[in-house]
Parts: sequence; C-alpha cells; structure tokens
Amino acid sequence: MKVIGIETSCDETGIALYDSVSGAMFQRLHSQIKLHAPFGGVVPELASRNHIQRTLPLLDELLSEAGGGKGQIDGIAYTAGPGLIGALLAGAAIARSLAWALNRPAIGIHHMEGHLLAPLLAAGDKPEFPFIALLASGGHTQLIQADRHGCYQMLGQTVDDAAGEAFDKIAKMLGLGYPGGPEVSRLAETGQPGRFKFPRPMVNRKGLDFSFSGLKTFVRNTIASQTEKAQTLDRQTIADICLEFETAVVDSLTIKCRRALRQCNTPRLVIAGGVSANRRLRQKLTEMALQEGGAAYFPPPDLCTDNGAMIAYAGYLRLASGARQGNEISARARWPLTELRPPRQPETEHL
Ligand code: KG4
Ligand code: ZN
Repeated sequence: MKVIGIETSCDETGIALYDSVSGAMFQRLHSQIKLHAPFGGVVPELASRNHIQRTLPLLDELLSEAGGGKGQIDGIAYTAGPGLIGALLAGAAIARSLAWALNRPAIGIHHMEGHLLAPLLAAGDKPEFPFIALLASGGHTQLIQADRHGCYQMLGQTVDDAAGEAFDKIAKMLGLGYPGGPEVSRLAETGQPGRFKFPRPMVNRKGLDFSFSGLKTFVRNTIASQTEKAQTLDRQTIADICLEFETAVVDSLTIKCRRALRQCNTPRLVIAGGVSANRRLRQKLTEMALQEGGAAYFPPPDLCTDNGAMIAYAGYLRLASGARQGNEISARARWPLTELRPPRQPETEHL
C-alpha cells in the first residue's frame, strides 16, 4: 500500500510517501522559519497561505523522485489536528480534494499520534505495545500510557509551558534564534557545569504532571542579575545558563518518566516530539530505562520534529486496518489524544 502523508499543523509543510511493501519512505519538508522570523512568532494567516503554495509542488517533486505519478497512490493521510486551524484546513482541503479526484480514501490523523508512532519507523529495535510515551514538543508535554494502537490514557501533562516552548522562550531571552531547542542544546555543549543551579520543577510533588514556567522565571532572574553585573552576557555565561537549563529540563523529564514506568509496571518508554531530538535527553532516558530493566525508543533524528513521514505512516496503519472517514473537510485546533479509538471502530465521530 502506498500512502501519502501531508503535515501542515504549524510552520512546516511536510509531505511523504510511505510504501508498506518495500518499507521505503520518500519525504519533502519546507520550513517556514524564515517567513515568520521578522514577526517573532508564527503568523497563522501567513502559515496557511504558505502551506497552500507549497503542498502540491512538493508532492509533485516527491512523486517524481519516487517514480510514478498520482495514480500509484492508494490513500492520503493528513494532519487533522491539533494545531493552527487555518494551516490544518489548508492541508485537509488539499488532501480531501486529491482523494476525491483520485477516488482513493483520505484519513485525518492526530498530530500527536503521528509523533507517538514515529519511533516505529526507526531502523532496528521497535517498541511493542503496551508502552509509556513521553510526548514533548513546542505545544505539548504529556506522559501517555499507550495500551495499543489508538488506545491512549493520559498519565500527566504540563500545567503551563510545554518543554519545547520553554527552550524557545529561554533562547529568546538569551538573544538566540528560533527554534530554541537546537540552539540552546548546541551552546550547552560548551557550558561549564556547576556555575548556576536552577530548580528541577515539580519533582518533589506527587504525580506525573510537569511545569516549566517557574524554571523560566528563575532563568529570567538569573539573566537579569548577570546583566546587572556585566551589562552584556558573555558567550561563556550564555553557554553556562544553557547547560544548567537543559540539565534541569532533562532531569525533570527523566524523574517523571521513571515514576511512570514504575507506576504502570511497563518496561518500554517511547519518546517523541521535537524535544526528543535533544541529545542529553536521549542519553539520560536511555540510561534510566536500562536501570529500570527496560528500554527507551526514539524516532530517527530527522523524524523527531514535524514531518510528513509520521503522518503517512500513522495513516497507513489506520487505512490498512480498514478505517474510513466521510468526505467532509474538517479539522480541530484542539483535540485530546485520549479521544482516539483503535482503527477498526468508526472514525467520523472524532473530527
Ligand atoms: O514537534 P515539533 O517539531 O513541533 C510541535 O509539534 O510543536 O517540536 C518543536 C519543538 C520546538 O519547541 C523546538 O525548540 C523543540 O521542539 N526542539 C528541541 C530540540 N529540537 C527541537 N528542544 C530541545 N532540544 C532539541 N535538540
Ligand atoms: Zn509536532
């Protein structure tokens, strides 16, 4: 089965073709980072317009690389939520129109289910259900108990900022670029441990929720007091702050993940979403899962952040199981992952 994936939930246009027989995945990604940079954040109207302009040319490019035209497509998956509603509707309209013209099924996919299933695309060892999933991105930080495909229970989530959002905000305070995660992480490599000490949020509280806004305020105060002393922050001070911030986030995520594995008596931990690209986090969670007698699973590095491949794959799994939806073009800006059902049950009610 050959399934197209179309991801347009935020500021990346991701298009992919997954061939379930050969296992081949072709992908194209267009990032809108430069488009939004002058505005200091994603401008929803510009995002939707850009998705409309980019999607079909990227798809044509991809199909010619894969060899064969649109006739080879067996199904089309698109991100139906959560995300920016205009951006989602742009992808939904294109996907549904294409499906109608080709007389093939289209299926709306939950963006976070796409992230959650991305580790199944890694070469080598793949996680089996049930597992615990840490989903950490720019908009979400959640601990999920995944009993089987489409059956998800919420164990905990952030009560304020998402982990990726905290990286982005700290980067902005330090005058670094967007997205902040990769920049902060790169600078942290030259940081000296021990110069600063930031709190590990929520670790002394029971339960599996996260919070990052207190840590963010602590960093803001640290930057203010350092600037008072020296007018501007030197490179080493910025690196030292990045290191301590990154370590605090990683510690907090690791402590909660360990607690979740123990609480659910599950040895497998899946980590997905943009923050799962973080090297320190990958290392720490791998060590922790081993100590707990289990294993940690991550997406391949290029599939941690938003992409079409995870949507193509999630769509393939649902379409191949017989899931079908009506033809209406719809999307949801907000959509709890726990509302999903395993693919054999009727799906239209979810959108
Ligand atoms: O999953 P994603 O591409 O988009 C959303 O669905 O939000 O995640 C983007 C987020 C951004 O906040 C970005 O700063 C963060 O993931 N991120 C990272 C790293 N790479 C991306 N955070 C920490 N370390 C990284 N290496
Ligand atoms: Zn995402």
